[in-house]
Amino acid sequence: MEPLEPDVFTTHTKELSAADKQKLDEQNKRGFVPEFKANKLEIDAQRNWDIFYKRNETRFFKDRHWTTREFQELLEDQEDTGGDKRTLFEVGCGVGNLVFPLMEEQTNEEDNRRFHFYACDFSPRAVDFVRSNPLYDSSRITAFQCDITTQQVHEHIPSGSLDVCTLIFVLSAIHPQKFRDVVQNLCRLLKPGGLVLFRDYGLYDMAQLRFKPGNKIAENLYVRQDGTRSYFFAQEEVSQLFQENNFEIITNAYVHRRTLNLKEGVDVPRIFLQGKFRKKNL
Ligand SMILES: C[S@@+](CC[C@H](N)C(=O)[O-])C[C@H]1O[C@@H](n2cnc3c(N)ncnc32)[C@H](O)[C@@H]1O
Repeated sequence: MEPLEPDVFTTHTKELSAADKQKLDEQNKRGFVPEFKANKLEIDAQRNWDIFYKRNETRFFKDRHWTTREFQELLEDQEDTGGDKRTLFEVGCGVGNLVFPLMEEQTNEEDNRRFHFYACDFSPRAVDFVRSNPLYDSSRITAFQCDITTQQVHEHIPSGSLDVCTLIFVLSAIHPQKFRDVVQNLCRLLKPGGLVLFRDYGLYDMAQLRFKPGNKIAENLYVRQDGTRSYFFAQEEVSQLFQENNFEIITNAYVHRRTLNLKEGVDVPRIFLQGKFRKKNL
C-alpha cells in the first residue's frame, strides 16, 4: 500500500455518502448475530486468535515502522528515573511487529533512550513466535501470554512501574464490555504521568463498511470469517473511556489516510483513531 497524500487528522466523524448509508443499512438486514453465537465467540476468543497465528504464522501483519514518527515520546531522553531504564509494555503484541522494529531502532541509541520492553498476547502461539525471533533478548524484552482483560498481567509487571503502554489495533479485538477492565489494568501498571499510545480502527473505516449482513454482533462490532472480532471506535467514546479511568487526553483524533493498493490499482481510504493519554498524578 502506497500513501497517496499526507494523512489528515480530524476530530470530525466521517460524513456518510448515500452509498455508505446503504451498506450500513444492509448490514442490519439479518439482524445481529444470535446471542448464543455471540457468547461463543467471546468464550472462544483466545482459541480463534491462536488458530489465526497457526494459519498465518508471522506473515499477516507488516512491521510497524511508523511508531516513532507518530509517537515522538518513544525517542525522547528519559527524565531522571534514578538510573532505571524506561519501560514500555506492548499489549496484544501479536508476533512482535511493533516491538522488534523499535528494539532495532534503539540498539545504537544512547542508553538513556532505551526501553526495557514487556510484550503480551492472548495467543500462546503468537508469544512463542516472539520468543523464537532472532532479535529476542531476555535482557531487553520479556514476553508472556496473558488476557489483558483479567488480573493475570499483575503477576508479570509490578504496579506503578511502566512509562509507556502501546495499544495498537488490540482494543478493537476485545468485547466493548471489557474495555474498562483493560484501561483500569493499564492505569494500575503505569507510573503517574505514564502514557498510553493508542491506534485502532476508526468509525466508518472502509473495513467496517465492507462487512456483509450476518456479521454484525452489536453497534460497530463485527465478526470476521475466522471468528476474530473487530470494533470501530468513535473519537468521543475513547476520550470518555480514558477520562473516566484516571487519564487526561493529550491528543485523540481520526487519521484519514488514502492509500493505493498497487496490486488492485484502487484507492483505499482508511480511517484510524490515534491518541495519547496520560495517567493523572493522583
Ligand atoms: C489485530 S492484532 C494486532 C497485533 C499487533 N498489536 C500489531 O499491531 O501488529 C490483535 C492482537 O490482540 C490480541 N488479543 C486479543 N484479545 C486479547 C486479550 N484479551 N488480551 C491480550 N491480547 C489480546 C490478539 O491475539 C492479536 O494478536
